Amino acid sequence: MMERRAVLKGLAGLVGFGAFASFFGCRHLGDSEMADDSGRDFSINGRATLRERAAAKGIVYGAACHQRTLFSDTEFAAVFAKECGILVPEGELKWGTLRPDPNSYNFAPADWLVEFAFKNKMLFRGHTLVWHGSMPKWFPDIVTSRNAEKFLCEHIATVVGRYAGRTHSWDVVNEAILPSDGQPGGLRKTPWLNLLGPGYIDIAFRAAKEADPKALLVYNDNGLDFDTPDNEAKRMAVLRTLEQLKSAGTPVHAFGIQAHLEGDRKPFNAVRLRNFLKDVASLDLKILITEMDVIDQKLPADRAVRDRVVAGLYEDYLAAVLDEPAVIAVLTWGLSDKYSWLAKYRSRDDKAPVRPLPLDEKFQRKLSWNAMARIFDMAPRR
Ligand code: XIL
Repeated sequence: MMERRAVLKGLAGLVGFGAFASFFGCRHLGDSEMADDSGRDFSINGRATLRERAAAKGIVYGAACHQRTLFSDTEFAAVFAKECGILVPEGELKWGTLRPDPNSYNFAPADWLVEFAFKNKMLFRGHTLVWHGSMPKWFPDIVTSRNAEKFLCEHIATVVGRYAGRTHSWDVVNEAILPSDGQPGGLRKTPWLNLLGPGYIDIAFRAAKEADPKALLVYNDNGLDFDTPDNEAKRMAVLRTLEQLKSAGTPVHAFGIQAHLEGDRKPFNAVRLRNFLKDVASLDLKILITEMDVIDQKLPADRAVRDRVVAGLYEDYLAAVLDEPAVIAVLTWGLSDKYSWLAKYRSRDDKAPVRPLPLDEKFQRKLSWNAMARIFDMAPRR
């Protein structure tokens, strides 16, 4: 596989990619002029929801959401249930929310979301068991290298066990790789790496497998989407890690690519991304697009222009990734611009509300919704 990768790297940009993506192959995807493709056609057929269009191709579409949002906004909850075939809690299963103190769990918000998903015949996915972000304040005072494995395994047994049999997939480990941190294997410097060494990843997957033998166990990461040296280094490090995990017999079943995309377009090479996913799939792994949105922080103020650029990137990105048959699910990180995390994390200098998601702030379908619908309609059946 390494050799094939080297050859493909050399050929990238010359070769066409798969049949579906070559529909778009005449587009110069690395060309920044593309970002303002005002003549582009975003028309769609029919009124079917994203959930239905994706399902018709054997793909699952859904989104992340906070419990407080679905609970308090019934109009949004109704739209969410229509458009989404899978729900992932945006924060309710992270340590910081779930573990108010070292000895107890706050399951109520996540339980509510599981119920909401099942009442609406949606799948449910878990996010996330091991992450350096959203950690509780008490953690550094209480968890030491002597008790860390026990803490981690008990947490996973309790949380995964609680929803066992009702969970489509779990992000077992999130964002463990960051080559620029200079650690062996390109691992990110995190509390878990400090406490347990590189073996923490294997420990977490084995504990998750024991607690729910049926859930799809996912390694999830970001910063992999564009044709830049740091994204390429990360793609290589992720591949190496996945290869090592597979050959060690770690029960990892799928790879999650977050896809928080910079709308002001770093160079995008669909062939290179496509080949990366092919290499991942060749390890006998499924692939999920887990957190897609398009960051419009630096895009022009004009809403119509901004919406076209955002929609264009949705279409180009999804055309490339859905050409890979191992991609079984697409989730956006939120559904409506009214409730996007980017309003806080990537706000605009001009204070204009951000528009990164398929539905606008009034839950109306935007061009990016059309782009997703078009791509699902054209995607090869799984
Ligand atoms: C974000 C949530 O959207 C925010 O509400 C929260 O405060 C911080 O985390 N990558 C991830 C997600 O894996 O868990 C992050 O979610 C967004 C980036």
